[in-house]
Amino acid sequence: MKAIVIKEYGDISNLQEVELEMPVLAEDEVLVENYATSINPIDWKARLGYLKEMYPWKFPVVLGWDVAGVIVQVGNKVTNFKIGDKVFARPDIYADGSRGSYAEYVAVKEDKLALKPDEISFEDAAAVPLAGLTAFQVIVDRLRVKAGDKVLVQGGAGGVGLFAIQIAKHLGAYVATTASKQNHELLKSLGADEVIDYHETKIGDVLNNYDAVFDTVNAIDDGLAILQEKGRLVTIAGKPNEEQKASSKEVSDWWLQPNGKQLKELGNLIVEGKVKVVIDSLYPLTEKGVREAHQRSQEGHARGKLVIKVK
Ligand SMILES: NC(=O)c1ccc[n+]([C@@H]2O[C@H](COP(=O)([O-])OP(=O)(O)OC[C@H]3O[C@@H](n4cnc5c(N)ncnc54)[C@H](OP(=O)(O)O)[C@@H]3O)[C@@H](O)[C@H]2O)c1
Repeated sequence: MKAIVIKEYGDISNLQEVELEMPVLAEDEVLVENYATSINPIDWKARLGYLKEMYPWKFPVVLGWDVAGVIVQVGNKVTNFKIGDKVFARPDIYADGSRGSYAEYVAVKEDKLALKPDEISFEDAAAVPLAGLTAFQVIVDRLRVKAGDKVLVQGGAGGVGLFAIQIAKHLGAYVATTASKQNHELLKSLGADEVIDYHETKIGDVLNNYDAVFDTVNAIDDGLAILQEKGRLVTIAGKPNEEQKASSKEVSDWWLQPNGKQLKELGNLIVEGKVKVVIDSLYPLTEKGVREAHQRSQEGHARGKLVIKVK
């Protein structure tokens, strides 16, 4: 099968097209013919070797952890999915580094899968799992956002931020967010009550007494400063230090846990029109396409998701 791999850590020129053996399925896995995948910042961070200690992979490494496609093979112990099902998932990150989604076929454990609703295209579906599940888990489970809460989503125009704003609005929160000017209209159209241009205004000058902060940009002190005394902050972009953890406020970091059931819930919100998928740009699964997508992600101003069309 065709795949884009890295054979060592480094810049985008290390992303190379190769032919790989098809993945061999475990009993609890399905093989998905990949129609679309997406790029997340973890991809270029991994390419640069920032995750070396967490994942001591062997080369060549297949990056990419979003998949939308059709099941073509099922393991013996798979009970809830069958050949021909259209699915989407954030697959596990395997210890050997060979199982990413920049490939024509991806093996996925059954419990990470959700059926793709027919109303959602493969490209939109590929944009959802990693970023959408992160937003869902932080807003719903970790920050426990409820109707009437005042919530700040730092980095509202990013892949995660866009989902987070819409999920928090769906729960009935008042949502403030930060973004560059060119993204304000989009964020308001998706429900944000207040959009702050972080280039010009410090959030501490305009917001206070917030119940929850979702930090996607590693600005923990800024977030803590606007929280009410028992407010909650979750960061996905940094690590709270001892002083921050000692605050009277609830401060923690979060690492996404792939979860097929929650992905199904998110799919339902999209079908119901409560959450919209925003795609920044589409690329082909070629060396050039994936390199360009990495470049765009690494520049830090993607507006929504970068999607790779595989089939
Ligand atoms: N822990 C986890 O499980 C987990 C999961 C997913 C992501 N992450 C991490 O979370 C971060 C965000 O991920 P993502 O997928 O949303 O990234 P992304 O899509 O690449 O984010 C790009 C957005 O960030 C905004 N931005 C950049 N600097 C900003 C700042 N100082 N203030 C406000 N907005 C800023 C840009 O907005 P403008 O163009 O408007 O300036 C742009 O729209 C990354 O560091 C990623 O690695 C962690």
